[in-house]
Amino acid sequence: MDKNIITLHGQAQSLVWELQEGAAPLWRYWGKRLPDDADIPLRGEAPAPSFSLDKNIGLSLFPCFGHGWYNQSALLAHRGGQDFAQSITSCHVERESESALCFHMEDAVAKLKFLVRVRLCPQSDVLSVTTTLTNLAETPLVVERLANAALMLPHDAAHVRSFTGKHGAEFNTQEEALGRSIWVRENRRGITSHADFPGAYVLMPNAGEHDGGVYGAQLAWSGNSFQALEWLDEGCRQWQLGAWLAPGEVSLDAGGSITTPELLATYSPHGCNGVARNFHAAIRARLNWPSGTMRPRPVLLNTWEGFYFKHEEAKLKSLAAQAAKLGVERFVLDDGWFKGRVDDTRALGDWVVDAEKYPHGLAPLAQHVTQLGMEFGLWVEPEMVNPESDLFRAHPDWALQIAGRPHLTARNQLVLDMTNAAVQDYIFNALDALLRTLPIAYLKWDHNRNLTSAADAQGRPAYYKQVQALYALLARLRTAHPHVEIETCAGGGGRNDAGIFQHTHRAWVSDTIDPRARIEMHKGFLHFFPPEIMGAHIGSVPSHSTGRTQHIDFRAGVALAGHLGLEYDISTLDSQEKTRLKHWIARYKQWRDHIHGSEVWQGAHTDAISWQAYGREGAWLLFIVRQDMQRLRHMPDLRLPFVDEARTYAITQLEPEETEHAPLHGAWLKQQGFPIAQMQAEQVSIYRLQVI
Ligand code: GLA
Repeated sequence: MDKNIITLHGQAQSLVWELQEGAAPLWRYWGKRLPDDADIPLRGEAPAPSFSLDKNIGLSLFPCFGHGWYNQSALLAHRGGQDFAQSITSCHVERESESALCFHMEDAVAKLKFLVRVRLCPQSDVLSVTTTLTNLAETPLVVERLANAALMLPHDAAHVRSFTGKHGAEFNTQEEALGRSIWVRENRRGITSHADFPGAYVLMPNAGEHDGGVYGAQLAWSGNSFQALEWLDEGCRQWQLGAWLAPGEVSLDAGGSITTPELLATYSPHGCNGVARNFHAAIRARLNWPSGTMRPRPVLLNTWEGFYFKHEEAKLKSLAAQAAKLGVERFVLDDGWFKGRVDDTRALGDWVVDAEKYPHGLAPLAQHVTQLGMEFGLWVEPEMVNPESDLFRAHPDWALQIAGRPHLTARNQLVLDMTNAAVQDYIFNALDALLRTLPIAYLKWDHNRNLTSAADAQGRPAYYKQVQALYALLARLRTAHPHVEIETCAGGGGRNDAGIFQHTHRAWVSDTIDPRARIEMHKGFLHFFPPEIMGAHIGSVPSHSTGRTQHIDFRAGVALAGHLGLEYDISTLDSQEKTRLKHWIARYKQWRDHIHGSEVWQGAHTDAISWQAYGREGAWLLFIVRQDMQRLRHMPDLRLPFVDEARTYAITQLEPEETEHAPLHGAWLKQQGFPIAQMQAEQVSIYRLQVI
């Protein structure tokens, strides 16, 4: 192998760069695993087409505007208009280990240092990329755009699958053909957002859910972001992701540096499910559980849709007792418990218990819950303040705002300036007091609006720092209260990303609990994150957000694979529904250890059928979901791509009724398929397949 060729080999993918004299390393390859001993040719001098630079500039790991690079630059920066064109002038590669490289680069003219760290995790096969930019000059450097380096994609990458949505309709999948125009997604909402998830999949021609080459990338960042996919004249594409910066947001003083949020990226020859499995492994490795490992995910009951702001202590106590009887293990008191919080117009920021609703504080309810053998959880929205609150009256300057411009409220609230140390201390002390005085095992941490005029006390954009300040606060709180688990929520799924999951343990995916709507959202969520952190509830009928009514078995069947919860007033249920609920909770407890932590496959069949399979060690749970009525006279068999073609499987139907089936050979299941029984519209059938 030529000493100028640098490789990283993973389980199923390889990355190759070529060192260049006085420049950043040239991208040569990212894709299916190459043999260790494959001899990789040097690129050699590319022929110069007419009207081109005499020396061709290829896609490098860190392409910069300043040196004949006409495409998106990984960096846009200047010093008062000087040094606007950067270019790497030297690169030294340090191999930290078989799977980790540090690219130390400099621009000796603009006086900048770059450190690009690239690690390919041997277990998950996921690449982690961060870039640190340091200003080596005396004058400040204004940074306008900084990507986590550039990823190279093949010229024939065909489609991009990305995710969009809104409050109540998160993780909608959209797929677009890649053309010659640049494909860009930018999020300027200050939090991860419902609309522009900071990640995507890129599919090679003919790639599908289970087969074919697929690339995936996601940014571990809970703030503004961008991603761009661009066709390059040299016959490939580049993919850049990074934190989106507001004008003037980042200025590096002499010696100052900035490190990009971590980028996770992977390639799989096993289709979209292959990418998802890699991401699941990477996220699982990053989750920071109290005491180190995940405990079985407790069934919870959340009070929101059942009670909203109407808290009656006696009623909630009786609810808790009934919940415990059904098998609920965690009782989460949602919004409405703190001073004066009668609706969503007031009180955010005043984190003391409402004396009218709870004359003796929250301790009697919390203790009642723990005495019933359940954990007690509490909803908070720490980064927020209502103008109608004691906190705002005392500290109007604590809200993010731009002097001279009106406060733009959303849900009647403003965002606190988390970069202000006094604000951090205030929130920490308020939460710390609650956690010290009450037996709280769990916080649901909400953020119910996007950012707008987010300037700090100096009038500078605070978006980026705001996210760092949130992470710092979460870390501080977790150090002080390491046993507490945290759920991330932002009007449902507005803040679900690989960054927040380093500090939290559950995602509230959406305020829409309707299972029909949830099927699509869960599918999108599972592209990036594993099922054990996917908050999925059984709610009331008709559904509060869609008005649709579905049978308890369907509501439960769809919620079961995630982290299960209930979100309705169970005291109003008839005995038949209670019996079913108890049954499903028992099922969840029986299967959660299998599903959570397992390999996940998802797919669509024909005629309104979709499916998921959760497997480990030759044992699979197969969920077949019929969303609508059957229109075909006979259902075609469902091919199961996850089975081992060399083995035979014992098959048991578990839901809706337990029935033994004749065993089937893996080759048959994979090639011809699994016979689907007649199912009603809005029904989930669950099977166990076990290698014999
Ligand atoms: C957000 C959350 C809900 C609930 C309400 C409370 O909308 O997504 O689950 O907690 O806030 O105000």
